[in-house]
Order: sequence, then structure tokens, then C-alpha cells
Amino acid sequence: MSDARTSRETFRSRQRPTWIELNHEALGRNVAAVVKELAGVPLMAVVKADAYGHGSVAVARTALRHGASWVATATVAEALALRHDGIAAPILVLGYTPPEQVAAAVTGRLAVTVLDSEVLAALERAGAEQGHPASAHVKVDSGMSRLGVAAEELPAFVQSASELRHVELEGCYTHFRKGADRSATEAQLGLFLAALDRTEAAGHQFRLRHAANSAAWNTVPESRLDLVRSGIELLGLRTPDGRQREPVLSFRTTVAQVRAIAEGTYVGYEDSYRAARSMLVATVPVGYGDGFRRGPRNWGTVLIGGRERPLVGDVSMDLSMVDVSEPPEVAVGDIVTLIGKDGAAYLSAEMVADRLGTNNYEVTTELRGRIPREVRPAVRSDEPE
Ligand SMILES: Cc1ncc(COP(=O)(O)O)c(C=O)c1O
Repeated sequence: MSDARTSRETFRSRQRPTWIELNHEALGRNVAAVVKELAGVPLMAVVKADAYGHGSVAVARTALRHGASWVATATVAEALALRHDGIAAPILVLGYTPPEQVAAAVTGRLAVTVLDSEVLAALERAGAEQGHPASAHVKVDSGMSRLGVAAEELPAFVQSASELRHVELEGCYTHFRKGADRSATEAQLGLFLAALDRTEAAGHQFRLRHAANSAAWNTVPESRLDLVRSGIELLGLRTPDGRQREPVLSFRTTVAQVRAIAEGTYVGYEDSYRAARSMLVATVPVGYGDGFRRGPRNWGTVLIGGRERPLVGDVSMDLSMVDVSEPPEVAVGDIVTLIGKDGAAYLSAEMVADRLGTNNYEVTTELRGRIPREVRPAVRSDEPE
């Protein structure tokens, strides 16, 4: 039996001939291993942007079941989707929450990131109206120039909130621009801790001080503080400091058609490829409408029948073409691996990232919502977190 036939017997989705497989046994093991190594420091699973394309609800549930105690999203809507699915664990919204979204966040018992007085005032109003304190984490910019109160302004900012009766300043955090770099991270951590010391001296102590992401907790262990926020590592993608647990995501499609074409035949839009010899071309139902990028560079190759095969012609929105002239023979229905393993061959998100000229975060986060996510084993929402 050929490798191609063997691959036809592996899992496939009933929803669409293009799908993402998510190995939640691997995810659970990754989370449990991180929790163990953190030795008592709580873990916040970062599931923003649909858990970097891995499916936020299921990833959050599996992470909580394997020892994470917090979840983080980028937006209020992402967090409310978790609540809607019945997730009761504490959730922090890491991104910018504008004043008009604060009431919905407080209703959903979300912790909101604050960095200006308008959001604080909106939290105070929502907390008073809803009769329970609004939870806030103050974000400090310690050297990334992205989002947050300047480190030197933290004491004054906290002081400005001291009269608020319906806001709990529960946490304070910063984010590292280069978590794999020891000296840059130590410098940011030093600024952050000094700002916290001055705030404490002025009379406010935060219950949760946090800073580390996947790379930083390992590079600078002192950055773990009261909570570690991790995303990439839990998903088994390579961390910026070069560590990698078990990959969770595979991205696959199926051969829809195979045809023999003569020398000189065009393949794809705009004469983007012309056959220099007679060849066999397979069409696969995946394209840039799925996040299978067209340009400026594309995937380059995919795996079919246990070997690498070059893409030919431009990737279009829903379809792409592959040169399958080389053995083993390829047939309609064969599985095509775009990220993952096929026999001994492997195409990782990191290899794809190198080809596309980006990082592994972007490769999986770009995978679009129309691709069915097949979680195995299934994650049930009626089981305890
Ligand atoms: C504020 C913040 N904290 C934590 C993380 C998690 O980072 P990582 O996935 O590298 O662990 C992110 C992700 O970009 C983030 O924006």
C-alpha cells in the first residue's frame, strides 16, 4: 500500500475537505508541564485572537482543566464569548477597552486593563450601577512604547483612583518587548518593580503583579512575580527563546482533482505559471481566503503522500495547485498537509513562518474562522473547569 493510500485512512473532517486538527491531549500535557515548572506561580492562559487561531473556547477549557487559573483575551467580545460558553474562571482583557465597552465588561465580571482616567471613570460608574466592584489591572509601559501608563507616572495614576469606591485595582502589569533577551528583560523588570515600590510607598499594594510571557519566565525567572501570562508555549509553538513543547495544531486539506497537463500549459491566474514539461497537477481546496497566504511569498511546498510537493501558479482565494509529478502517485481524496506531519515528512508552523517572512504567531493566527476546527478528543462544556 502506498504512503498516499495510508494517509487517506487518517482522520478527516465531515464539515469541509479543509480543516484544522487540534490535539488537546498534547495541549493538556503542555499546560500541565508549564504549571509544574512554575512551581506554585499561577498561570494565565492567553487565548486572544481565537487562541492564536487554535480556537479560544476549547483551548481555554483544556488549559483550565490542566492547571491554568486565569484566562486572557485581547477584547471584551472575545472574553464574553468565553463567558457565553460557561467559562467561569477569572478573565483579563489585555487590549484597549474603550469607555463605551466597560459596562459590558463589568456585567461579564471581566478584569479590564486600564491606562487612562476615562476608563477608570467608566469602571466606577459601571461598578456603582451594577452593585459589584469593577476589576482593573493597571498596565505599565516599561519600555515597549505600546500600551500603558508610563512607569514614572504609575504612583500618580494609582493615587488618582484612590477615591473610587466601585473599582478594585486588583492587578498591575507590564509586557516585555524582547522576553528572550536577559538584559533587556531585566531592565524592563527593574523599571516596573521600581514603579511598584514607589506606589507601595504611597500606600497602594496590588494583589497581582505580573509581567512574564512564555519567553520571559524562563529567561529571567524573577519575572514570574504573582502570575505568568503564556500563550505560544502552551500551544507547542516555538517560543522566542527557542523552546518547544508538543505542537497542537495540524492544518490539512484534500486533493480535489488531478490532471495531466502538457508542456506550455498555463496554471493559475494571470499566467503565473507555465509548465516547462508535461506534468501532473493536483488542485486542493484551500487558498488565501483561509489564511493560506498568496503573497508576497507563499507556503512554497505542501506534503502529500509523505513527501514535499511544490505549489505551482498563484494561490487563489479558495483553490491552489500542486505539482504532483513525482511518485508516489497522488489520487483524488488524498490528504494534503499544510502544517503538521505526514509520515516521516514534517512541515512546522516555524518552517512556514520562515518561508512567508513572518513569525509562527502570525502563521496560525491568520488561519481563518471558516476552517473547521476539529478538537480531539472533544472538549465538553458541561464538565468542570
Ligand atoms: C500583554 C501580553 N501578555 C502575554 C502575552 C503572551 O505572550 P506569549 O504568547 O509569547 O507567551 C501576550 C501575547 O502577545 C501579550 O500581548
